[in-house]
Amino acid sequence: MRNIVILISGTGSNMRAIVEASRRQRWEAQLDARVVAVLSNQPDAAGLAWAQEQGLATAVVDHRAYPSREAFDAALQQAIAPFEGHVQKPALIVLAGFMRILTPGFVAQFAGRMLNIHPSLLPAFPGLHTHARAIAAGCRVAGATVHEVTSELDHGPILAQAVVPVLPNDTPETLAARVLSQEHRLYPQAIADWLRNNNKSDL
Ligand code: GRF
Repeated sequence: MRNIVILISGTGSNMRAIVEASRRQRWEAQLDARVVAVLSNQPDAAGLAWAQEQGLATAVVDHRAYPSREAFDAALQQAIAPFEGHVQKPALIVLAGFMRILTPGFVAQFAGRMLNIHPSLLPAFPGLHTHARAIAAGCRVAGATVHEVTSELDHGPILAQAVVPVLPNDTPETLAARVLSQEHRLYPQAIADWLRNNNKSDL
């Protein structure tokens, strides 16, 4: 069974959607995977408390305690290590609202098995403030993208996208809420698809 390790920084609503989906009987049978740990770089991330209530293993690696990105990433890698699972079928690392830029060395360690969700229709609007930028640009549609993580921020092969309309009176907040509710459907499905495509051997 494949392990899933989720990294968050805040509310963790995507993490919650993934955990809940993984617990649904049918989904679990299809997936052969389980969420084994939730890690956060923010000690007060709301999602951590929820994960703890659910009996999930949690850990905090506070980036402020490290002098460099490399030192933080090394600590994060160490925190993930106990949850890696089978050496020939190591964990899927899922970034869910994880707001840290990762070093190329860290990304290389998890190459091909680290996913992210970004609240725009990539390759449009990588980076921050995606909803405000989509509205300012006059976009008629917006959405979210699940992609494989590579060393270039918010790039990497696109695995799945969800599209929502941008309505005439939208604010960044109303658009964000419409996109987020689609993220909760999109991310578990994209993970299920990834697992199906990467669980072929019988290890
Ligand atoms: C989501 O919109 C995600 O796409 C972005 O940050 C937000 C995280 O929300 N990267 P949550 O913590 O999953 O509720």
